[in-house]
Amino acid sequence: MVSRVIPVDPFDLIIFGGTGDLAQRKIMPALFRRFCAGQWPADAQVIGAARGDLDRAGFQAVVAESLRSYASDLARNGDALNAFLQRVGFVRLDALSDAGWDQLAGLLDNARVRAFYFSVGPGLFAPLATKIQAHNLATDKTRIVVEKPFGHDLESSRALNATLAAHFRESQIYRIDHYLGKETVQNLMAVRFGNMLFEPLWNSQYVDHIQITVAETVGIDGREDYYDRAGAMRDMMQNHLMQLLCLIAMEPPAKFDPDAVRDEKLKVIRALDPVEPHHIVRGQFGAGADGPGYRDVVGNPRSATESYVALRAHVSNWRWAGTPFYLRTGKRLVARSSVINVLFKDAPHSIFGAAAGRHANALSIRLQPNEGITLKVTIKEPGPGGMRLVDVPLDMSFAEALGPDSDTPPDAYERLVMDVIRGNQTLFMRGDEVEAAWAWVDPIIAGWQARGDVPKPYDSGSTGPGDAELLMKRDGRHWQGIKP
Ligand code: BG6
Repeated sequence: MVSRVIPVDPFDLIIFGGTGDLAQRKIMPALFRRFCAGQWPADAQVIGAARGDLDRAGFQAVVAESLRSYASDLARNGDALNAFLQRVGFVRLDALSDAGWDQLAGLLDNARVRAFYFSVGPGLFAPLATKIQAHNLATDKTRIVVEKPFGHDLESSRALNATLAAHFRESQIYRIDHYLGKETVQNLMAVRFGNMLFEPLWNSQYVDHIQITVAETVGIDGREDYYDRAGAMRDMMQNHLMQLLCLIAMEPPAKFDPDAVRDEKLKVIRALDPVEPHHIVRGQFGAGADGPGYRDVVGNPRSATESYVALRAHVSNWRWAGTPFYLRTGKRLVARSSVINVLFKDAPHSIFGAAAGRHANALSIRLQPNEGITLKVTIKEPGPGGMRLVDVPLDMSFAEALGPDSDTPPDAYERLVMDVIRGNQTLFMRGDEVEAAWAWVDPIIAGWQARGDVPKPYDSGSTGPGDAELLMKRDGRHWQGIKP
């Protein structure tokens, strides 16, 4: 595979919460990888900002340690690691006081792109934004990056948007949904809009239904407090799965540019019908060989938070009228597997008669692992014995088709952080999208609360609660397997 790396403009990237888990596990390794790939220009630096009692050398040691764990393949090269560490600075700084801000100002260059990464809880967004302005640190080339959770509901997301809007223009705000940075998620757009083959069939006339599965084997260890207040609906459905749904269902944008794409995604969210209570299943994992059950993990024997959710959604517009979208996601399931399946309708008439059975095409887009695309087509079973039909996969594994480099696609953060520096918001959520997603999710959660809904237990290491199967069965359909 030919790798084409175009260096970005000179930049100063400041990470608030620089010693935190996200910064060390995701952002720094992503920056290091882009550095090693030659994407950093000569005048660029990353500055960690945190309250901790550290100096620059101490912070560099923390970063080196993280890179040895999370980018071990590249960090083995001592020269590369040292060269990167020369570009790593640190300021001790407090979002709630003026300490450290002048020192930060002294490290920055007004001519460069300036990106402030808010890798902190949303409670600090407002104080940080205020301090940035108070210390005159916002230049024309300034961007800010914020992470989910972007609010807890519609009201809080509106308040957060208003807070940020008081200090920055929407064009300066980069709201990360890391699923949009995944290579195969971008490929979804390439497949849909770069080929003639699929788009004419991409509607309710030819598509029977669509399934979006994001299954995880991991639990919630280390994030119990957050997760027990969020649950799968807020943690995964409101953002990652809805974003996938948008990319699958949206109309072709006129251009691959930020507002054209985000306008189309927003229309999808706004076209979603409210979900009927009997079209949604919540689950909570029990104990298993891989650890204790949910309630023991969070230390709350009565927790009614879901670690699994499956639902049937409808996009009420001309293209999708009558086509169900089934979405499911859960923790501690049998396998890690994120896949979108587009199930086409049967051919209108079988010239081979009933004995040939029923066959329908299906397109599977595997986001992770084993990124690739499979198209199931029907052919004649080879050999004598009449016209017997069989389904075979046309399998395009990116690793096989594009060479070994594609085997390990770049981490989503590599793409997204560089897009921030480039000033490209296409793969970031706009404020109105986030609010529209909450406006769809809020009544679902309110309904559970009003009814005192309790999630169905499911076995750790299984495919989720049995009721999720029923959700499909009632419609004469079944989930495509979660492949181990
Ligand atoms: C995060 C969620 O946004 O995405 C986690 O908060 C989840 O609960 C994670 O595990 C999944 O991301 P990935 O990239 O591992 O599929």
